[in-house]
Amino acid sequence: MIILVGYASVEGQSRKIAERVAAEVEAAGDRALLLDIGLGGEYALGHPEAAILCAPIHAARYPAAFVAFVRQEAEWLNSVPSAFISVTLLIRSELEEERQEAQHFPDGLLSETGWKPAMVHNAAGALRYSEYDFFKRWMMKRMAAQEKAPTDIHHDHEFTDWTALRRFVADFRVTART
Ligand SMILES: Cc1cc2nc3c(=O)[nH]c(=O)nc-3n(C[C@H](O)[C@H](O)[C@H](O)COP(=O)(O)O)c2cc1C
Repeated sequence: MIILVGYASVEGQSRKIAERVAAEVEAAGDRALLLDIGLGGEYALGHPEAAILCAPIHAARYPAAFVAFVRQEAEWLNSVPSAFISVTLLIRSELEEERQEAQHFPDGLLSETGWKPAMVHNAAGALRYSEYDFFKRWMMKRMAAQEKAPTDIHHDHEFTDWTALRRFVADFRVTART
């Protein structure tokens, strides 16, 4: 089975997650077509028989190019087995209401675009202080302090649960075949 693994990423964590998804897909014997949606280049969706898309939340929104892609391809996405991986920091919060907020981010995207993925996975992202400019670093340090996340700006901090991601990809491969 040929699976499109499309992603948008601002600081690289969603790209890393998509690359891991593609590696899992290939290791399991399927083919992965990795597409950087954020590049906004030409693409052809003739061949993939399934799709896994991955995108991060920044200031409560998915990247505009990603939303535009999903809107444009919703009909095709709904015609094949598909899944969405939403990348946030809030999903790792100690507070139930913040985790719920993170779990609801996909709802807006899906109602806005008409995409109906069979499965949705909420993945924790990363704090990549080394990638931020001065203002972003200050803002993210404040957000991290509120979230009880690491505020040590001299290191990057990754929260993605790779085992849960692997399980999700394995479950999707089963769903896609039923
Ligand atoms: C400027 C900025 C705003 C963010 N806003 C949110 C947010 O509103 N909610 C949230 O859960 N995570 C937020 N995050 C955390 C990102 O989702 C997380 O860092 C993720 O790993 C980014 O993915 P990327 O590296 O693929 O861009 C924000 C991060 C940045 C840098």
